[in-house]
Amino acid sequence: MNSLLKFITCGSVDDGKSTLIGHMLYDAKLLFTDQEQALYLDSKIGSRGGAVDYSLLLDGLMAEREQGITIDVAYRYFTTEKRSFIVADTPGHEEYTRNMAVGASFADLAVILVDATHGVLVQTRRHARICAMMGIRHFVFAVNKMDLISYDENRFEKISRDIRRMMSEHDFETMKILPVSATEGDNITQKSSHMLWYRGTSLLTYLENIDIRDSGNEDGFVMPVQRVCRPDHTFRGFQGQIESGLLNIGDEVTTLPSGENAIVNRIIDAGKDVGSSDSGHAVTITLDREVDVSRGCVFVKDFHPHVGSLFTAQLLWMDDTPLVAGKNYHLKLGTRLIPAVVMNINHKVDVNTGNEIPADITYKNEIVECDISVSDKIVFDKFRNIPTLGSLILIDRVTNMTSACGIILRSIQRSDNLTWQKLDITREFRAGQKSQTPVTIWLTGLSGSGKSAVANELEKKMVACGMHTMLLDGDNIRMGLNRNLGFKEADRIENIRRIAEVSKLMNDAGLIVITAFISPYARDRQMARDIIGADSFLEVYLSTPLEECERRDIKGLYKKARRGELSDFTGISSPYEVPRHADVSFDTSSLPLGKCADLIWDTLIRRYPQLRRADTAAE
Ligand code: ADX
Repeated sequence: MNSLLKFITCGSVDDGKSTLIGHMLYDAKLLFTDQEQALYLDSKIGSRGGAVDYSLLLDGLMAEREQGITIDVAYRYFTTEKRSFIVADTPGHEEYTRNMAVGASFADLAVILVDATHGVLVQTRRHARICAMMGIRHFVFAVNKMDLISYDENRFEKISRDIRRMMSEHDFETMKILPVSATEGDNITQKSSHMLWYRGTSLLTYLENIDIRDSGNEDGFVMPVQRVCRPDHTFRGFQGQIESGLLNIGDEVTTLPSGENAIVNRIIDAGKDVGSSDSGHAVTITLDREVDVSRGCVFVKDFHPHVGSLFTAQLLWMDDTPLVAGKNYHLKLGTRLIPAVVMNINHKVDVNTGNEIPADITYKNEIVECDISVSDKIVFDKFRNIPTLGSLILIDRVTNMTSACGIILRSIQRSDNLTWQKLDITREFRAGQKSQTPVTIWLTGLSGSGKSAVANELEKKMVACGMHTMLLDGDNIRMGLNRNLGFKEADRIENIRRIAEVSKLMNDAGLIVITAFISPYARDRQMARDIIGADSFLEVYLSTPLEECERRDIKGLYKKARRGELSDFTGISSPYEVPRHADVSFDTSSLPLGKCADLIWDTLIRRYPQLRRADTAAE
């Protein structure tokens, strides 16, 4: 066997993690000579007072050597006669959960260190949980510092029992528990003569021999489409990696989400036509008929993943900006990238104990279970069934940073069982009856910036021109439809979502809608645009400065907020994100109301010239 084994080492500061791997490299003569030299030199200033400090070998980063802790993921490559290895060394502290997840996401196996003098600790549970969550199926527990407990078999057995009990919570394929001493070299590369009661192999021998090939969903064929290749009109190939199973020419595959069946004509693997191919291979396939397939679709055979838009996932939050229910992201799953909303946070999971904690906000390094809705039907499955169709990342739509990684726990059937009912009286018909193009004019700005007054002025002008309109105003809607919502971020998101849905319904009814809501978050305004449809959405920013809004203070709310009697007040104790690409912007402190309404009107007519008919009719 000369395959590659990618593994991660997990342990806390004093568990001897770096020493263990360092010893393995040293004993197995896996070092380059200059590294060996440097090690002796470094050990003179290292933390073991002249004796060889093996942990120095794994210090990927200078900072660790200076501070005595590992702060990032360090990757090291080594090879023995039997196998090649890449080891990710990550810090064990709770605040570095994210780093460990990154290291674990690349690994097939985890070596988790347990200090024999302490046994299973909360951090051991945390390390196992993160590795299991990131899809590691092979675990090795190195019970280290056996020398300090006099190589006591009974103590080792007790720790082993605790480890087995802990692991019963997780899914895994193989587990090995080894008694070792990293500093003394017991059972690291060679069997120790101090623990004759231990009948297993050394750690290195175990790692050299373990078979990590996936024994999961072997018979079902799954291939997510990465690219549709169409060099000319005669060839249409679908490219992707076979994630599971075997494919032969002549097989009938189903394309998802469309559900069409087709026969495989050709399989091209590494530039050559082949009769069959299997898991792990990147191939191009052609089919005997036209099917509706694009990037993100999935070919399957004898495998039935979910096709839907709603599921429950477990996420590890990685972003400095916390997760609040209702937020919009891009979701990447397999080869598909799609807009998504975290609908609600079910609970947090204590990363140390696994206990469920009620929560409506999630901070960096926390694990959370939540319901996610995507904007279209996608192909997915439980992570444990097929990792590629069950693992996801969430990407912030504004910063483009990865906000979370996670796994799908289960599908939510709710949306799968709904079917859009086609109505005979259409939006176009209703709009035609009113002889107008339904649009939503979305006013945003601070409290007191003049939204309600401008909206009112604009509506009067439109009605005078014979238009059919409706005005949705913040305070009014909050007294009725949204009376159960406050001003925390999650409530504001839901406020805007409902208003956007209502605006869309009114547009569907043929009406022109004007809305006046602070709508302080860029992301929520984008959500409103997505719900209503960009073609029917006009964004108007009232840029009246905070000082002017506060001077006006028509409702006396700024004074209250300044006195600390009103929390989460926009502009004072809650943010307002200025729109960067509004269709119209103006400051009501320097323009009379009528002029403001005219500015909106002019933009509206420029964009929807068909509305002018009503305009001239009224003149
Ligand atoms: S939004 O942020 O969710 O868009 P919305 O426009 O519906 O807010 O409601 C804002 C109105 O609620 C303000 O004009 C003000 O009269 C009132 N209000 C009461 N408390 C607050 C607060 N903490 N922040 C902002 N507005 C508040």
